[in-house]
Amino acid sequence: MTSYIIFLTCTFGIIAIYAGLIAFEFSGNGLTAYQELLVFAIFPLIALASHQYGYWSGGVSRRFLRKVIDAVPSMLFVKDRQGRFKLANQALADVYGTTVTDIIGKKDKDFNQDIEELDHFSSDDLHVIENLEDKFIPEEEVTDWKGVTRWYQTVKRPLQFVPGGDVHVLGVATDINETKRLQTELLQAQKMEAIGQLAGGIAHDFNNLLTAILGHTQLLKILAQGQEEILRSVNLVEIAANQAAQLTAKLLAFARKGKHQNKAVNLHEIIEECKLFLERAMKGHSKLHHDLQAETAMVMGDPIQLQQVIMNLVLNAKDAVELKWESDAGEKGEIIVKTRSKSREECLDFEDLPKSGERFIELSVIDNGCGAPQDLTTKIFEPFFTTKEPGKGTGMGLPMVFGIVKSHGGGIAFRSEEGQGSVMTILLPKLNE
Ligand SMILES: Nc1ncnc2c1ncn2[C@@H]1O[C@H](COP(=O)(O)OP(=O)(O)OP(=O)(O)O)[C@@H](O)[C@H]1O
Ligand SMILES: [Mg+2]
Repeated sequence: MTSYIIFLTCTFGIIAIYAGLIAFEFSGNGLTAYQELLVFAIFPLIALASHQYGYWSGGVSRRFLRKVIDAVPSMLFVKDRQGRFKLANQALADVYGTTVTDIIGKKDKDFNQDIEELDHFSSDDLHVIENLEDKFIPEEEVTDWKGVTRWYQTVKRPLQFVPGGDVHVLGVATDINETKRLQTELLQAQKMEAIGQLAGGIAHDFNNLLTAILGHTQLLKILAQGQEEILRSVNLVEIAANQAAQLTAKLLAFARKGKHQNKAVNLHEIIEECKLFLERAMKGHSKLHHDLQAETAMVMGDPIQLQQVIMNLVLNAKDAVELKWESDAGEKGEIIVKTRSKSREECLDFEDLPKSGERFIELSVIDNGCGAPQDLTTKIFEPFFTTKEPGKGTGMGLPMVFGIVKSHGGGIAFRSEEGQGSVMTILLPKLNE
């Protein structure tokens, strides 16, 4: 039975139906024995009939109210002290993958297996019931019947149907997943901006120092002609300084401070140019496929930088594939470089959709390598983040790619499943033909 209350009032009594139980208080003042009998016999019948047909004394249909409750987009529920649902709406039934009627009398644990969430729900419920006070939960996770976890903002309030009666908890939980996602994205963007400014500032000054060092090594080489030992040392200084210059160039690219060209570029041509080098780099360890179906792959940009983007992404994919398949990679490791033309509407769910541009070239590098855990998917764009052994990776490949994509007015997103593989997708604004 549901937990609606029906009140029928008249001058000599009050009658209520709650949770299918009929309760009435009767004054009996001034009634004859016959009238008393009528009240006792007829009132429950009227109440039962009105309950059955779904009418309230105020003229509000019970079915109407049910429709309203079920139309509320937030999850709405009433639980008793034992955590049994007394009321649930459609939004909650959808999350728990069942029907509203099935939930009644059951507990959260009958639908949700996440122990941490269950503990948290019941301790909040008890707090509300015992302290008779509201509880505002700014954000909490709720796992649905498919195992997907979403963020909710919940308000819980004590509810007593009759004065002095059992206290229940009324809850309204609103899905805030989208707000939470936008907040996280904003924080990440601000973080990248701050790191970019810091890295850019250091790299710029460092570059000036390196120019001086490299200039003087050239001079020293001339002055030290014939002195082999000095020349050997100067050469080592030059090699180290050149490596440092490469690193600062990557930092500058990440900070979008490096100089770059801006001309019409065909992305397919750039991919073709990288092909030979990349195929050699695979050394038979994995297969590299191309699936280039964007009709015209023209973008505005710097061909050298775009080449660096493709190289870095494919080399990362190769490392991931080798890590998963090891010596078997040649058989099983696969990398696909894919392009598609996309309209803005087709990209609306892309996490990093550029603010402007109506048409895009979507470039994806797909691999069936080791993948990355969920919490790493944003970290990988930060400078010097690497999971590779010292000497094998500097952690500057993706920050550079990130900076280049941004300075080309594009967006970048990484999707990965640990142990399964990854997809790195880039959207670049298409050049208007
Ligand atoms: N396709 C991929 N699959 C799984 N993990 C990846 C993939 N691409 C990047 N990563 C992760 O992101 C990290 C950072 O990548 P990034 O290219 O910035 O640096 P790196 O490859 O470690 O070093 P560098 O590119 O400077 O030589 C990698 O160490 C790896 O953990
Ligand atoms: Mg890399």
